[in-house]
Amino acid sequence: MDVSAWHALRQVRIPCVWGWPRPVYPGSKAAIGFRKGPHVMDMSGKTVAITGASRGIGAAAATAFAEAGANVVLMARDRDAIADLAGKIGKTALAVPCDVARYWEVEAAVNAAVSEFGSLDVLINNAGVINPISRLETVDPEAWGQLIDINLKGVLHGVRAALPVMVNSGGGTIINISSGAATNALEGWSAYCSSKAGALMLTRCIDKEMREKGIRALGLSPGTVATDMQHEIKASGINPVSQLDWSDHIPADWPAKALLWMCGPEADAHLGTDISLRLPEIREQVGLV
Ligand SMILES: NC(=O)c1ccc[n+]([C@@H]2O[C@H](COP(=O)([O-])OP(=O)(O)OC[C@H]3O[C@@H](n4cnc5c(N)ncnc54)[C@H](OP(=O)(O)O)[C@@H]3O)[C@@H](O)[C@H]2O)c1
Repeated sequence: MDVSAWHALRQVRIPCVWGWPRPVYPGSKAAIGFRKGPHVMDMSGKTVAITGASRGIGAAAATAFAEAGANVVLMARDRDAIADLAGKIGKTALAVPCDVARYWEVEAAVNAAVSEFGSLDVLINNAGVINPISRLETVDPEAWGQLIDINLKGVLHGVRAALPVMVNSGGGTIINISSGAATNALEGWSAYCSSKAGALMLTRCIDKEMREKGIRALGLSPGTVATDMQHEIKASGINPVSQLDWSDHIPADWPAKALLWMCGPEADAHLGTDISLRLPEIREQVGLV
């Protein structure tokens, strides 16, 4: 085949791959979107803000929501990484450099989302760090506090900025990325465990105060995921998580798919609490197995 024929073939194939009209199964009316097909939510016209979207679970979630038709707002400190990802996604993505430890930056990002896309329907509080990994008798209190500023106060910042916008428009979904560490103490992880326990309580508090105003609050405990965070954990050599084999971790697009599923009504049974992606029945409902 000569080169021009090859180009012609590619031009036909590329739009086919991305543009295939997928079957629509509108029977299951969802809280936010509706199911496009088995385990595929239609998020067309919805705006989803994701913190920590520069890599790992957040970047995978941004890609999954964009493929489901959502406008996506990518928030993280690494401005080049979110700009690159937004460029790959196209016009339905907005990159907003943001440190979640600073409330005013999170508030400005939420405002940017609303002025660009007209609404904010879903907030995913995903940004998180694992360090300092250190036993309590040696841990640096400053570093301990900085983790809390990101993993716990960062969640509060997203919630506080998003709630007025969501309530004003009749409701929305807030998902906090949790961890098994929210309910299990692990050696060297006092800051991380405390932050995730606090974030789980925030999920419960949002549900308690805001469900009647149309806010769906949920947490996702993904299990161990093959991201940079697991490289940092492995390098620490402390506690059993650092001893896991890389093949024990799930890929980042698994929690991304779970997050999409959580925007639909099948997840309503779990409002106000964490969903564990380790559970076989949840994996089945999400369509991962
Ligand atoms: N990987 C796992 O096994 C696992 C298991 C359970 C829960 N989780 C949770 O999943 C979430 C995502 O983690 P991951 O595994 O995807 O880790 P990752 O690859 O290290 O990504 C962490 C993300 O958080 C962002 N971030 C960190 N500090 C931030 C700040 N101050 N402001 C804004 N963004 C910030 C990072 O972006 P910038 O550096 O560009 O700001 C990055 O995009 C975290 O909440 C983590 O605790 C992970």
